[in-house]
Amino acid sequence: MAKTTFACHSCNQEFFKWQGCCPNCQNWNSITEKISTKSSFTASTKVLSVAILTEQANITIDEQRISSQWLEWDRAFGGGIVRGSVNILTGDPGIGKSTLLLQIAHQIAQTHHVIYFSSEESTHQVAARARRILGQKTKLYFLAENNLDLIINTIIQERPDLVIIDAIQNCFLENSPHTNNSINQIRECGFKLMQLAKSTNAAIILTAHITKDGQMAGPKTLEHLVDTVFYLQGEDHWQVRILRSIKNRFGPTNELGFFEMAQTGLHELTDINKLLLENSTPAPGATLISYLEGSRPLLLELQALTLPSKLNLPQRVITGIEHIQVILIAAILEKYLKIKFSQQDIFFKVSSDFKIRSNSSDLGIALALLSSYMQTPLKQKTVTLGELSLTGKIKPIQQIGPHLKEAERFGIEQCIVPKQNLNYSSNMNLVAVENIYELLQLLE
Ligand code: TYD
Ligand code: MG
Repeated sequence: MAKTTFACHSCNQEFFKWQGCCPNCQNWNSITEKISTKSSFTASTKVLSVAILTEQANITIDEQRISSQWLEWDRAFGGGIVRGSVNILTGDPGIGKSTLLLQIAHQIAQTHHVIYFSSEESTHQVAARARRILGQKTKLYFLAENNLDLIINTIIQERPDLVIIDAIQNCFLENSPHTNNSINQIRECGFKLMQLAKSTNAAIILTAHITKDGQMAGPKTLEHLVDTVFYLQGEDHWQVRILRSIKNRFGPTNELGFFEMAQTGLHELTDINKLLLENSTPAPGATLISYLEGSRPLLLELQALTLPSKLNLPQRVITGIEHIQVILIAAILEKYLKIKFSQQDIFFKVSSDFKIRSNSSDLGIALALLSSYMQTPLKQKTVTLGELSLTGKIKPIQQIGPHLKEAERFGIEQCIVPKQNLNYSSNMNLVAVENIYELLQLLE
């Protein structure tokens, strides 16, 4: 039985009767009739046939991936972009989204049909950049356009393998009931592109702006709709850019890709640990840890600075790591080693502005604090791994292998590991520790 309801174009709120002004968003003349033919049970008599899921498709996801031949990009995507998927790349303005996509699109265009639509920059601007960083020869197709209906028609006509739309927030739909650039219209754009990707099997990458508080602007709902969401991040003073997946329907979400911004665009950083270790030499307050991001161990330096406090409430300035983790470890050291960290100001950071969260860095934090307090560096280039219990015991960590392998590859001479992890064989000098008292001997 047909049932008449009314809905507002601007906020989607539904009503039982027509009103001139929407009580929800206060917009005038935005409420129109909406006819729903659905009753509590479907009126259709049509029956669909079902079949065993795994017998329905004989193509695996991996076969449908498009590789860019850029290891860092492919790794972050879990092996390449999946055909028929819609992907979002977001990040601060000027971080390098357009540059990265131009380079990736060019790379894939060597073997596939790729079209880059720019809704923010002119053909002249993008062509000048392409000439500078890609050279004269590229098979990449380009169009400066922000009318999404025209973009969709072009894709249906051209049948590309990969489409870039930079940026989705600047696109509009001709006959949309929603205002241009409104959240509802961006969501509608997302819906249309999802349908388009599924029907043409083209992989689509959209860029999206970010707000001041670091969230993807406006279309949070777009994140739920699309298949993958990536953030391109970096610090101003460091030219390294990190591609981080926060949603991936086809792969792991914690894999990172590393790039470096140079005069000639972005370059892959396949050996990020080489760069991380470049400025690291044994010094009071510094220790190295190995931190697993996705499948890759990162060799990071922890830096501690402790000094007698002149304040009633000593200062704790901690970045890159949970505040409570450092405070807890300082308390454990105070309890068992009788060092009055509660009367010391503590400054603590992770090198290169990385943010880490892992219990296997406990021992590294303890050593950094002790090393600063005692003004004694570790004698050799040392990586420290281990979890600390409240009783002062050192607990083993899981999967120590990848950490030790990476440390060995980068010329680390010594590794301090929990005693129960000592059964792992390595050419490095492995020093086993069982409790917190043994840490002092390492600094003598
Ligand atoms: P862009 O890709 O336009 O950023 P987004 O699309 O995320 O807004 O990058 C612009 C910045 O990158 C700009 O500040 C200059 C810098 N850049 C380089 O340093 N080298 C280069 O080769 C290019 C193309 C850009
Ligand atoms: Mg851009």
